[in-house]
Amino acid sequence: MKTTLFILSLAAFTSLSASDAIETVMKEAMKGDASLYKKVATGKGTPEDATKLLEYVKALPAESPPEGSAASWKEKTATLVAAAQDVAAGKSGATAVLQKAGNCKACHSEHKGK
Ligand code: HEC
Repeated sequence: MKTTLFILSLAAFTSLSASDAIETVMKEAMKGDASLYKKVATGKGTPEDATKLLEYVKALPAESPPEGSAASWKEKTATLVAAAQDVAAGKSGATAVLQKAGNCKACHSEHKGK
């Protein structure tokens, strides 16, 4: 039991220090109707926009979210990176996949906390 508590507090501490990168990606790439993500996911972005978005989301898998399991985070962020990669590569139908992978609520309800 004591070990579990120790590991839990360690995990909480780690996610606290690592969450800055997630916040940066959210603020700079995801937030708002005119966001980089919105542009790219709706097919209005340039190839450069798509590559930029890919660079942003690539930072996510290595981070630890404030809440939720590591397995779920890994899966969601990997799906998001793969979708951004496909859009950047010009794959047809990729924006629809990206819209699903970037679903704000689906990820926030499990990982955002607060
Ligand atoms: C793959 C998961 C995931 C997806 C998809 C996602 N978010 Fe987030 N978002 C997070 C997590 C985790 C946090 C909490 C970061 C923290 O507090 O450390 C967050 C936090 C935020 C924040 C608060 C940032 C801050 O200043 O603290 C905003 C704004 C935000 N997200 C916007 C969005 C929008 C808009 C979308 C959809 C277009 C979106 N996010 C999609 C995981 C995600």
